[in-house]
Amino acid sequence: FGLQDEKGISCMLVELDFLKCSIGFPFMRAQTKYHLSVLFDTSRLSGENETLLFLVHARSANPEHDSTLHDNTLELSIPLVHEVDTAITGVVSPTSFVYGNSVERSHFVQLDDMECSFQPLNFTFQVINNGPSRLPGSTVNIRIPNRMAGNGADMFHIIDTQVSEGRGNCTWQRNPKPCTVPQDKESIFHTIFAFFTKSGRKVLDCDRPGRACLTISCSLSSQAKEEATSIDVQMLLNTEILQRDSSSVIQFVTRGHVLLDDRAVEVSTGLPEDTSLVFEALHSQEPRGYVVGWIIAISLLVGILLFLLLAVLLWKMGFFRRHYREIIEAEKNRKDSDESWDWVQKSQESLDSVQKIQ
Ligand SMILES: *[C@@H]1O[C@H](CO)[C@@H](O)[C@H](O)[C@H]1NC(C)=O
Ligand SMILES: *[C@@H]1O[C@H](CO)[C@@H](O)[C@H](O)[C@H]1NC(C)=O
Ligand SMILES: *[C@@H]1O[C@H](CO)[C@@H](O)[C@H](O)[C@H]1NC(C)=O
Repeated sequence: FGLQDEKGISCMLVELDFLKCSIGFPFMRAQTKYHLSVLFDTSRLSGENETLLFLVHARSANPEHDSTLHDNTLELSIPLVHEVDTAITGVVSPTSFVYGNSVERSHFVQLDDMECSFQPLNFTFQVINNGPSRLPGSTVNIRIPNRMAGNGADMFHIIDTQVSEGRGNCTWQRNPKPCTVPQDKESIFHTIFAFFTKSGRKVLDCDRPGRACLTISCSLSSQAKEEATSIDVQMLLNTEILQRDSSSVIQFVTRGHVLLDDRAVEVSTGLPEDTSLVFEALHSQEPRGYVVGWIIAISLLVGILLFLLLAVLLWKMGFFRRHYREIIEAEKNRKDSDESWDWVQKSQESLDSVQKIQ
């Protein structure tokens, strides 16, 4: 501590947290004021304390009337702000999986009395406090794209979340119907169209506007400097909903973000307070049997129709009539020419004979 010197003031440190000052020794005149200021060095604060509390008592050897004693005590409290440098990282397992009718059901998880095939997915997020102070508390928000389209069914079902060593807990909106099989009255033409267009890549990202996302909110308790807390999320993805989509690759971008307690401020050194995890659902690309049947049937029908159309068109243009007439005429011409040939030959023979005679 430092002390601003003023006449008639002397201080001594009685204990580490007890400073005693005598003012106006040997006496204070009536109606006089003394200004006292103390400077504390805060560089040694551990970051354990939420507020700094100073209790000041003024006492005198002289008797003082009880009714005027209330202003002899002063309580000064200073809320402390913790400087921290937090970072979040995460991993997802698996990073890709295959779905589709040709994938065996044993690759997926079935829940009791539900007909859906679920793909299990695990997320692990880690929040690290790189100091310099203790982080009194934080909130981690995890956002998962939950729908293929704005009005579709929710795809994810969270089984469990766990914060390491019980140092926090998570809340989320439960999915009341984890196994929704879309019962759209989809025509066979739509299915065939979907089969042929299953080529694109679709990205589902909560940072894009208009996305319906599932938010898991975890509140974490205090973290000392250099301490890490991990959050595990176990969940299931309803693959029946994926099957109805026409994309062959669906990319899910999940985002995690740390929010600090009011009592802490971030001193940024470039460590990220956001993270994104990506996993991909790959369609097996094998058409369903009846789709193949329908494709063949429709191709046949279209072929026959085209043939008939062409035939009618040609007939209308008089192609066949002209053709027959040409054939008939050609036949006639041929006969005619044969006859004339005969005649030529005959006349030649007769000419020859005439010559011989001559
Ligand atoms: C700071 O916290 C410690 C332990 O919680 C406590 O013993 C100490 O009195 C506190 N100091 C201040 C200045 O509040
Ligand atoms: C997910 O975590 C659970 C529990 O830790 C484990 O049993 C399971 O095998 C994990 N699944 C995947 C796909 O990593
Ligand atoms: C977990 O939640 C319960 C009830 O909401 C709460 O009392 C408890 O303090 C929380 N635990 C932590 C470590 O945040």
